[in-house]
Amino acid sequence: MAKSYSSAIEEIKSRRNIVDVVGSAVTLKRAGSNYKGLCPFHNEKTPSFIVSEAKQLFTCFGCGASGDVIEFTKKYYNLSFQEAVEKLAAQYGIEIGELYDKKAIDKEPLYETNRLAARFFFDAIKKGGAGYEYMTGRSFTPETIAKFGIGWADSEWSSLLDYLRKQGVSDERVLELSLASKNDKGRVYDRFRSRVIFPIINTRGKVIGFGGRIVGDGEPKYLNSSESMIFQKKYNLFGLNLTRQEIQSAGCAVIVEGYMDLAALYQAGIRNVCASCGTAFTQQQAKLLKRYTDKAVLCYDSDAAGVEAALRAMDILRASGLDVRVLHVDDGKDPDEYVKKHGADEFRRLIKEKAEPDVDYKLGLIRKKYKAEDTAQGVKLLKAAAGVLRALSPVEADIYIKKLAAEAGISEGALRREVEGKPPGSGGYAKAPAPVDSAEKIALPPAQLFLEKTLLRLSLLRSEYFSKLRDYTEAFASAEGIKLYSVLDSLYADDKDFDIDQLRENLEGSELDYLDELLRDVRIGANDSAAFEDCINKLRQLRKDRRKKEIHDILELAGGEAGRDIQDKLLLEYMELQK
Ligand code: UTP
Ligand code: MN
Repeated sequence: MAKSYSSAIEEIKSRRNIVDVVGSAVTLKRAGSNYKGLCPFHNEKTPSFIVSEAKQLFTCFGCGASGDVIEFTKKYYNLSFQEAVEKLAAQYGIEIGELYDKKAIDKEPLYETNRLAARFFFDAIKKGGAGYEYMTGRSFTPETIAKFGIGWADSEWSSLLDYLRKQGVSDERVLELSLASKNDKGRVYDRFRSRVIFPIINTRGKVIGFGGRIVGDGEPKYLNSSESMIFQKKYNLFGLNLTRQEIQSAGCAVIVEGYMDLAALYQAGIRNVCASCGTAFTQQQAKLLKRYTDKAVLCYDSDAAGVEAALRAMDILRASGLDVRVLHVDDGKDPDEYVKKHGADEFRRLIKEKAEPDVDYKLGLIRKKYKAEDTAQGVKLLKAAAGVLRALSPVEADIYIKKLAAEAGISEGALRREVEGKPPGSGGYAKAPAPVDSAEKIALPPAQLFLEKTLLRLSLLRSEYFSKLRDYTEAFASAEGIKLYSVLDSLYADDKDFDIDQLRENLEGSELDYLDELLRDVRIGANDSAAFEDCINKLRQLRKDRRKKEIHDILELAGGEAGRDIQDKLLLEYMELQK
């Protein structure tokens, strides 16, 4: 298990004896409870370089160099702080989580391979044949096929593989992207066969994966790319690369389940759409959507699985602050069939007139489930309804309590007591959404983490702030903070006008959550330069505190051994810091 950066530092400090690390570079001799040697940082004939095993510190009473095991490595091998940490970690087999992972750069060849594959599939469908006929048979036009770059994977075992090999792509890479599989005899073969292919393209226009629908008999109906370094299902919504502007300008997103639903609505002219494509709707997808709109209409299939999936999706969307409505299409089992049968205007009308707020939709299901006439059922209805209302704000709950009590003929007071009686999340129809998964807990103290976030927030505001922080990189200590810092570093180096999407594109997992928290929680106020000054002052203070502790330790360590002048110098410095 890879460690976060800060915990790796802690581990280095706790596991690596400074005496061993220094000892491999400098000849040390025991001197009382300490070790002594010739200082490697200045020229000397008599040893004044002391290493304390107990304090895990080194200090030189000749030149004043001092610090811990990382500081020694940094100075001795002439490394940056990060390089020193990495060197020590590597030497001692301590794994560090990917920090400045060169992933952002390493991803390019993967994207490129996917792009080649998408192009290959698309060229194949254009030639006609089973894939083309299948799509046109489902009333998709050549324009739609081209717009989405829909392609065709033929029934052979190595069409794509042969092509990619010719382009110089290694089998390992093709396997890594799950465009090919390997059988138990070690033979590599095309994974997508006899399938219409939907390239999955992220909002930066990169092909991150594929979904392929079988043509003819075969299982599964849809085969999707496996997760890879560049494809994490939970962070993507199919179609968003083409539709985000429309979603933004419409002020609302229609969410469907499938590739075909999305393509059909798009072709019919309904373009504020995206598809969750077979995965249970995730918090990360909700966050992604929230960048463009705060309203969603869930339009899932009308079968039981569709309803179940919609129920979960609506809780997640609501928890992410979106206003959710639900559209249940009865005639035609999914939006694709509906829009092909009735047309776009009818579908729009349906959204306008038939889409219900999530709460009404849930209450409707509950009412259907429990017949209110029967007393025993009435109690169950009341309890189930209370479970739904409990998740709402008090004002919202109040409106529904009145409405539901009147409609279902139950006592308003009883319902209110039931709603208020239990803590939120206990029981009810819908499960409370799971907490945001953050990969690893950050070991930073809260105040320091807040400082780190504030500095990053300010860095997003102005590049000048960011450049000034180059002298204070110790401020970035959580794994996510360090990653964000290094991504900002490369983005600011390329182009001063990058947007937040570009930043997101270079982050993943808990780093994205970190960024969202930072954007949500850190408020800078009107005077950002004052806020920046504040932070810098705090950083200076932290440095002073650290140095004071160090001086304290060194003086204690030296006992009587340090020369008077060095001791006086340190004391003077201490007093300066004290001011
Ligand atoms: P559906 O089974 O509803 O398919 O799955 P569909 O979209 O209506 O497709 P057609 O119209 O029969 O061609 C909905 C979505 O669930 C995912 C796919 O993303 C699909 O679009 N899915 C479905 C899979 O990933 N694998 C499967 O085997 C089936
Ligand atoms: Mn369908």
